[in-house]
Amino acid sequence: MIPITKPYTFPEEEKLVTRVLRSGWLTQGEQTAEFEKMVAKYVGAKYAVACNSCTTALFLCLKVLGIEAGDEVIVPSYTFIATPNAVMQTGARPVFAEINLATYNIDPEDIEKRITKRTKAVIAVDQVGLPADWSELNRIGKKYGLKIVSDAACALGSTYHGRRVGGLAELNCFSFHPRKLITTGEGGMITTDNQRLARELQTMVSHGASLSEISRHKARHPVKETYNRIGYNFRLSNVQGAMGVSQMKKLDWILKQRVRLAERYNRAFSRSVNIIAPVPAAGVEPNYQTYMVRLSPAIKISREKIIARLAAAGIASRPGIMACHLEPVYRKIYPKINLPNTESAYRTGLILPLYAEMKITDQDKVIKTLQDITR
Ligand SMILES: Cc1ncc(COP(=O)(O)O)c(C=O)c1O
Repeated sequence: MIPITKPYTFPEEEKLVTRVLRSGWLTQGEQTAEFEKMVAKYVGAKYAVACNSCTTALFLCLKVLGIEAGDEVIVPSYTFIATPNAVMQTGARPVFAEINLATYNIDPEDIEKRITKRTKAVIAVDQVGLPADWSELNRIGKKYGLKIVSDAACALGSTYHGRRVGGLAELNCFSFHPRKLITTGEGGMITTDNQRLARELQTMVSHGASLSEISRHKARHPVKETYNRIGYNFRLSNVQGAMGVSQMKKLDWILKQRVRLAERYNRAFSRSVNIIAPVPAAGVEPNYQTYMVRLSPAIKISREKIIARLAAAGIASRPGIMACHLEPVYRKIYPKINLPNTESAYRTGLILPLYAEMKITDQDKVIKTLQDITR
C-alpha cells in the first residue's frame, strides 16, 4: 500500500535518543531545551516552549491569555477537532467562523461579523500547511483588541510573505504528531516574542513550578521552587526532545522533498476538470504538510467509491479535513449553524499520499489511478 504519510527518521535519532536513555535524565531536560531553541530560531521567534501536544499548547495559550467561562473564541469549524476542544476545555465557547474556499483558511470578513462583547480571541488555523491571511488577522486583532493565536499544527516551514509561520502571531502552536513534517511521536511547541507569556507558559507546562526540574537538579545548592498558580503536567520528555533535535536537522530537506512532490501533483492535476488542486495565495509558500485536493461538485463518482478504488489499487487516501460543527458533540451545542464553504470543502476534500521519501514511480501511480477513476 502506498501510505498517506510516513515519518522520516534517520540513524541520528537513534544515536541521540540512546544517549538520552543512557544519561538517565528522561523527563523534560537539556534536549527539550535544545529543541525549543532550534524551533524558535527556525521560525524567527524569541521564545519557544515545548509541551506534549499541540492540543495542550492551544489550551495553555488560551489559559495564559486569561480566557475563561463566559468568553468567546472565534475558530474555524474546518479544522481538526482539537482546535475548538481547546476552547471548550477553558470553559469558554468556540464560535465557528467560515473559511475562504480558495485558501481553506478562516475568512477574516466572517470573523468581523461574529465579534461580540464576549469575544476575547481568535484561533486561526494554517490549514494543511497553507498559511492563513496573517496581515488581515493581525489587523483585526489590533482593531478589536482581540488576541490572535495561530494553530500552526500543520505549518512548520510554511512562509507568509517571506516570514515563517510561528513568528506571525503573538502565540503560535505546533504539533509533532507523526503526520506532521517532523515528529517526536507526540509533542507540541508554542512560539512567541512575548517574554512574560513565555515565562508563564514554561511554568504552566510543569505544575506551575517557578523552577524547572533540570535547573533544580543542576543547582550547586538545594533550591526550592514555589507554586504560584495552578499548572499542569504537559512536559515534553528529554527522549522526545532528542528526537526533535535530530528531526529539526532534516527539516529543510524534508520540506524541499515535499514541496517538489506537491508541485508535481499540482502540475498533473492542473488540467483536470474533476480534481481541484490547491492554489497557494500570492506571497504564500506552503509546506504541503497534507496534500489535499477537492473533487468537482459535478463529478459522477462518489468520494467513498474513489477512496475504495484507490485502496483496491494499493493507494491510501482519506476524506479531507473535518467540519467540527457537524460532529455530534458540537451539533448538540450548536444545532443550527450553517457554513456553506466549510461544508462544501468537508464533503469534497480528498487527501493523497505525500511523504519526503515518496518514490516518483509511486506518485505517478497515484496520479494516473486517480485520473483514470475520476475521468
Ligand atoms: C489544525 C490542528 N490543530 C491541532 C491538532 C492537534 O495536534 P496534537 O495531535 O499535537 O494535539 C491537529 C492535529 O492534527 C491539527 O491538525
